[in-house]
Amino acid sequence: MAYDVNYEEQKKSILIVDDEQNILTGLKHLLHKKKRIWNIFYATGGKEALNIMHEKSIDIIIADMRMPVMTGVELLNIVKSQYPGTVRFILSAYSDREMIMRSIGSTHQFLTKPCDSVKFQAAIAKTFALRDKLGNDKIIPIIGDISKLPSLPDYYDDLQRKLKDPDCSVSDVEEIISSDVAMSAKILQLVNSAFFGVPRKIEGMRHALTLLGVEMIQSLVLTIHIFDSFSREDVETFRINKLYTHCVNVALASSRIMSNICDDQFRISNTAIAGMLHDAGKLVLMKKCPDSYRSVMDRSQKEQTSLHMAEQEEYGTSHAEIGAYLLGMWGLPDEIVEAVAYHHSPGENMTREILPLAAVHTANVLEHELIQDGQDAIALKMDTDYLKELALMERLPDFRKLCQELFKTK
Ligand SMILES: [Fe+2]
Ligand SMILES: [Fe+2]
Repeated sequence: MAYDVNYEEQKKSILIVDDEQNILTGLKHLLHKKKRIWNIFYATGGKEALNIMHEKSIDIIIADMRMPVMTGVELLNIVKSQYPGTVRFILSAYSDREMIMRSIGSTHQFLTKPCDSVKFQAAIAKTFALRDKLGNDKIIPIIGDISKLPSLPDYYDDLQRKLKDPDCSVSDVEEIISSDVAMSAKILQLVNSAFFGVPRKIEGMRHALTLLGVEMIQSLVLTIHIFDSFSREDVETFRINKLYTHCVNVALASSRIMSNICDDQFRISNTAIAGMLHDAGKLVLMKKCPDSYRSVMDRSQKEQTSLHMAEQEEYGTSHAEIGAYLLGMWGLPDEIVEAVAYHHSPGENMTREILPLAAVHTANVLEHELIQDGQDAIALKMDTDYLKELALMERLPDFRKLCQELFKTK
């Protein structure tokens, strides 16, 4: 019967963990009105939080960084392995930012303390909107058994942790990457290709790391890994190669655009990763539906319509959502996942902050305009309203010039 539906169970659930009772009371007060749409649970420590998670299905956990017995990072690391589907937020004072950066492997988003009520609620609402966009019903039938999807390289967590450690040296990173001989060889091959335009041959991993920076190398690890995992004999090599070129170009251009806007290294490195992986969903489609996707690609090229619209018609979803879903499953930070999910339609994202999304959207359209011939180039449009809202519109000519310079050698 219709009125048997349990609306309580349909509501999204949030668990907030903080050892300071007055903070919890403040948050309870703040979120009081949201009880209609969210189930909100509170815990004063890690153990209590895990007990609640054992009983209830939790969509978002928000944990304070500094707690006795079990820190927020320790708690979120456990949640990451036991409940990978739960979105993990860390709550902390701004002065802890350095430490927060180091905890990135276990966290999707950071919220600063004391909480700004509007920002706090907006961050939660935005996360739910993104998860709804990546709703399983259209994506799962395409990607099939989730457990059969490639996972991140074993050493990736290690690498990420090291990169966030202020004492981390180039030789630490070199040691981790060099343990994967095939990966190291591919990185060196890529950095010595025309993409990077380096004047003389890069001989070893240490040289590559010093010249290009650890963040760029980190994003190459992910890119090479995902291309390796999805490439197969029955996907035409020219399509894969074209996509690879496009992704590296967008990564270079978007990270350059972002470093023109801000000097936050963390944000610039997330931008490079998002740029590299923004079209990862195309690889999933090439592998999972090779025949139908080939005709979708051919049709969109012939009819000069955009590929993501053609995918939408055929599958009810597009490579943007599929790629974002995969990256979300890997636990990459939300600002990377949302850059991928909305790279064709940034205005759909709820915030108007300058995040990797802005740079990836701009770089993707400019790359198609300046380099790609045919496919997607005609139908892809720069979202000028979105750029205006971010006050980036007047900088667009500079970004175009920057990309022209960057792609000149291609
Ligand atoms: Fe795309
Ligand atoms: Fe693209």
